Amino acid sequence: MAIQAPKGTTDLLPRESRIWDHFKRTAFGVFSRYGYEPIETPIFEQTELFVRGIGEATDVVSKEMFSTITGENLKTLLGGGHVKSNSRFSLRPEGTASVVRAVAQHNLVTPGGVPAKLMYAGPMFRAENVQKGRQRQFNQVGIECLGSVDPAIDAEAIIMLMRFYHKIGLKPETLRLLINSMGCEKCRPAYRDAVAHFLLDHESELCEECVSRAHTNPLRAFDCKKENCREVMKNAPLIIDALCEECKDHYAAVKGYLDEAGIAYIEDPTLVRGLDYYTRTVFEVQVVEGMGAQNAIGGGGRYDKLMEEVGGNPTPGLGFALGFERCILALEAQGFQFDEARVLECYVACVDPAVKPQAFMLVQRLRDAGFATDMDHQGKSLKAQFKVAGKQHVPYVFVLGPDELAAGSVTCRNMDAHDEVTLNLEKLTKALEQAALTDEPTALGDVITQSS
Ligand code: HAM
Repeated sequence: MAIQAPKGTTDLLPRESRIWDHFKRTAFGVFSRYGYEPIETPIFEQTELFVRGIGEATDVVSKEMFSTITGENLKTLLGGGHVKSNSRFSLRPEGTASVVRAVAQHNLVTPGGVPAKLMYAGPMFRAENVQKGRQRQFNQVGIECLGSVDPAIDAEAIIMLMRFYHKIGLKPETLRLLINSMGCEKCRPAYRDAVAHFLLDHESELCEECVSRAHTNPLRAFDCKKENCREVMKNAPLIIDALCEECKDHYAAVKGYLDEAGIAYIEDPTLVRGLDYYTRTVFEVQVVEGMGAQNAIGGGGRYDKLMEEVGGNPTPGLGFALGFERCILALEAQGFQFDEARVLECYVACVDPAVKPQAFMLVQRLRDAGFATDMDHQGKSLKAQFKVAGKQHVPYVFVLGPDELAAGSVTCRNMDAHDEVTLNLEKLTKALEQAALTDEPTALGDVITQSS
């Protein structure tokens, strides 16, 4: 059988690739209005970054990382030798740890300086059990803001996320925004211990994994999908009752800003998210119906200790990421139709192979003048060439044949209006040469008018 793409990956064919491009441009357009600037980090990083940043006990790090090693180091390992930790790499399972590493490495936040507001888009890799909406390579768009503890930053990011969903076409009534506070290094440890004790007290009613979580990552028990565990966790202590005064005030201020901005949210005291770096605000946007278990289309939160975890100066941070594939599934479930893109603006149809060199040159001139143009290279009949142009929704077809050439003309058919004009070939050539010299885009309609 022919080789297939690896399980859990998808090819973005031209249509999907165009949608991804539109998705990124729309997101960056919204985020840049809030002062965010683009950043690109490597697709792979030292494994250590994710272990320290995301947390060794998280599913993402303990089970789902694609780790890689160079051929040279593989030989060393197989020979029983030791490979230094800075030679162990992993494909990024998310973007936050990388952006925080880059901010530290390039000193993008200076004491007393303005926060670094960064946005990114690209593929992430997690070796998950594949299902609808859960892939092993998927695309995220995200933002990270480093250098401010102000609750207004948390609210601003949430508002911006909701504005993006609206802009991309997701109906607000189909989404729900969950928020919570995870506390800080002062109040969280005691809460974590309380949950661990609660898990051990209910050992006999919980699944094996939840019991073991008591020792590694107790809060993750809130995310267990097993019915028994869910029932037990309904009575578990809630972080909201354990927050210190500063965390309570921060959380109240975030909610105040959201109320002011008219953003509807649901407080979910069991929302813990799957990455260990969060402190204080966490949030997640879910699709209300039709997405099954993979209904989270975006999420994020504050991570005031992450920078230190990865070796930088203490710098508070906050961000979110949204999943492209899940957003598209949600849009499709709502019946949203993406416009069929018109890739080509014109097509040059050749009546007879004898005039192909002149038709070929007309194609080049149209392209140089800025118009996406193509022609036939398979010896198709004129009728078949029109069929190709029609299928691609090309608005203008230029027809060149021996008779036209002898008369110094070319026929231009407006495919939408179903009418034709005869153009003067010399005037057309001049107008196209003129258009090629200007930086401003020229309208094809103007070129046609000038040439008739
Ligand atoms: P996350 O919740 O792990 O957060 O991922 C964010 C979004 O990526 C999810 O809501 C989902 O839409 C999408 N996603 C995650 N895993 C998959 C998958 N296997 N297949 C398809 N889509 C997926 C983060 O990644 C954090 N870095 C967000 C963040 C930024 N927190 C602070 N700053």
